[in-house]
Amino acid sequence: MGYVIAMAGKGGTGKTTIAALIVRLIKEKKLGSILAVDADPNSNFGEALGVVPQKSIGTILDEISKHPDKIPSGMSKDRFIEYEVQTAIAEGEGFDVLTMGRPEGPGCYCYVNNALRAVMDKLIKDYDYIVIDNEAGLEHLSRRTARSADAMVVVSGLSAVGLKAAKRISELAREIDIKIKKRFLILNLCTNDLEPDKLKDLNFDYLGCIPDDKEIGLISLNGQSLMSLNEKAKSLVVLGKIGEKILQRG
Ligand SMILES: Nc1ncnc2c1ncn2[C@@H]1O[C@H](COP(=O)(O)OP(=O)(O)OP(=O)(O)O)[C@@H](O)[C@H]1O
Ligand SMILES: [Mg+2]
Repeated sequence: MGYVIAMAGKGGTGKTTIAALIVRLIKEKKLGSILAVDADPNSNFGEALGVVPQKSIGTILDEISKHPDKIPSGMSKDRFIEYEVQTAIAEGEGFDVLTMGRPEGPGCYCYVNNALRAVMDKLIKDYDYIVIDNEAGLEHLSRRTARSADAMVVVSGLSAVGLKAAKRISELAREIDIKIKKRFLILNLCTNDLEPDKLKDLNFDYLGCIPDDKEIGLISLNGQSLMSLNEKAKSLVVLGKIGEKILQRG
């Protein structure tokens, strides 16, 4: 059974960057097979990883609803979706990538969400680690495309507003009954660490703070992938130290 790591946090806090670095750490530590899932409709997790799938689950669902005649006779719609999903998985070196996208056609959202959920339930069994990069905000939590996560990693800046948003995400996950075993908080782009009293009512295991790293800035500016980030880059070194708990099963 796969170990699911789900990213959350406000916009622009560094979710995609840290998700890509987590994939890199799992790969370098040779912990097992990895599926990186881009669940942000404005997807860029693939770019961050240097592997961009040609189609998304959204386009697959659109195609099937526009051309139901493509489903071979004798095959159920669900079985056909499952088959098509396999073709949407792009293979990188040491990890696979899947983009969820967002179906555009009309149709029942509950159907689409159920289909996405069924896809995730199946894939979770096929990999050792599943790292899900989510969109900012809370909508994806209410859509519940992932019903459970072993570790939720909330990324925040060091500001009262950011920490309040992190707390709200944690509360929402509880309210809508997504089963999350461990909740972690990482501060990103911060100059100083969090004072312990600010953590009192956060309900997170606070891991530490990733510094502003010029090397990430250069990678981002040149449109390169974080797989080519220097292994001594301070962001990667710090995440390697503070992120161990995220990767620990059980
Ligand atoms: N530790 C860091 N040092 C330097 N730059 C960083 C760091 N973390 C993130 N960045 C940069 O900040 C920007 C936003 O990061 P990222 O795209 O990972 O955030 P996000 O939370 O995924 O955003 P969105 O909500 O839009 O999906 C990017 O240009 C990224 O390169
Ligand atoms: Mg992002």
